[in-house]
Order: sequence, then C-alpha cells, then structure tokens
Amino acid sequence: MPILVCAHRGASGYAPENTMKAFRLAHRLGADACENDVHLTRDGAIVVIHDHDVSRVSAGQGKVEEMTLAELKALDVGEGERIPTLEECLAFFDASGMKLNIEIKTGEEIYDPALVEGVGKAVRKFGLSSRIIISSFYHKSLADMKSLFPEIDTAVLHGPEIREPGAYAAALGARYSHPHYACVNKAFMEECAKHGVLVNPWTVDGELDLVRMKDLGVNMVITDFPDRALRCLA
Ligand code: G3P
Ligand code: MG
Repeated sequence: MPILVCAHRGASGYAPENTMKAFRLAHRLGADACENDVHLTRDGAIVVIHDHDVSRVSAGQGKVEEMTLAELKALDVGEGERIPTLEECLAFFDASGMKLNIEIKTGEEIYDPALVEGVGKAVRKFGLSSRIIISSFYHKSLADMKSLFPEIDTAVLHGPEIREPGAYAAALGARYSHPHYACVNKAFMEECAKHGVLVNPWTVDGELDLVRMKDLGVNMVITDFPDRALRCLA
C-alpha cells in the first residue's frame, strides 16, 4: 500500500497556512489529503485557522472565539487570502476528491460541544464522511464526535505522554493514532497494529525523517512539503 501524503495546514511550506491557496496548491502538488484546524466564532460559524488568536497570521488582534465571522473575514491572512469557513473548505474537498483531516482546536477551558456537532453536521451535509478524519489533542471531543457521528473516523493527536497508543485509540473508538513523528518506532507500530490502529505522524518535513516513516510503514504522513514527501516516499 502506498503511504498517503497529507499537506499540513495545506501546502503551508509554500503558501499561507490554512488558506484556500494552500489547499489548492496541495492538490496541484499531488497530495492525497490536507489537514486543517477549526474554531467556532462568536456568532457560531466554523472557521479554518490554527491559533485561538488572530495576531500571528494577520495584522489584526483578538480571539477567534470572541470575533464574528464578518470581523474575521476582514483580515488578510497572507497574500490577500481570507480565513476560510469550514463549508468553503468542504466544497473544495468535495470537488477535488482529496481527503481532509479536520483538527478540532479546543481544550478543557474553552470546550464547546457546538463545535463538534457543527463539524459533524457539515461533513454529513456534504456527504464526505468516507474522506474525512477528525482529530484533536482534546480527546473528549473525539469521544463526543464518535457518539454523535459514528460513521466519521477519528484520530487521537498526541505526543509521548500516551504509553499504549493503539490500546488508547481503540478504547476511544478511534481508527487512527496521530503522534508526533519522534514518538514512532517499531514497538509503537507493533502496538498500534495489535489494536488495528493506523498511524499518521506529524509534522514530517525532513528527508531522513520521511524515509524513516516510510521504512516503519506508517499509513500517512502529515507534512508542510507534500512534493518532498511524495518524492521521499516513492
Ligand atoms: O494535526 C497535526 C498537527 O497539525 C498538530 O499540531 O499545532 O500543527 O495543529 P498543530
Ligand atoms: Mg493542526
């Protein structure tokens, strides 16, 4: 089985992260999938942006959760690009045939079940369940997603703190482990395989690291440079 290539925040090594430009470029470069990050706005829209705050990627200031969609849309997030809504993104993935990994950016302090419900409903509306993976570092959101939308695959995002990633993912009903790539070794792969859990490491950008992931037999790599990954994994 070929190892899939997932463009992290789109082809973010070359274009402004989490923008339609970055997703379109990933498609042109031949990526199988993209990863994006989603938040809820003050007025209940779901938008594609990594941080809780807009200041790193734009000249604006403020927290996404405290801003309206109109306020967020007024920002330039690089090269004239605007923050996409999840629905704008899903329309592109529907048409392009690519897979999409939606990362739910939430944590205990700001957990709003409306985000999980809104993401699941949008995926259903576009009929894209078979091409979507929902991931999160906040694992309660994955359990909630699975109980509301059992047909949508989920992935546990984690670092070295999870000692038995396969058993842990299986217990949450997750099909995938999404570890930092430095955690992945032969024992890691074997433990996941024992539980039928597939491994999609992030963010694998170095050529040597890409080749190491290939040799370990991961399912998909999440990378800022999809063209480089395609070359190293071939
Ligand atoms: O989903 C993989 C990766 O995106 C997790 O970290 O901070 O880039 O969202 P981050
Ligand atoms: Mg992410």
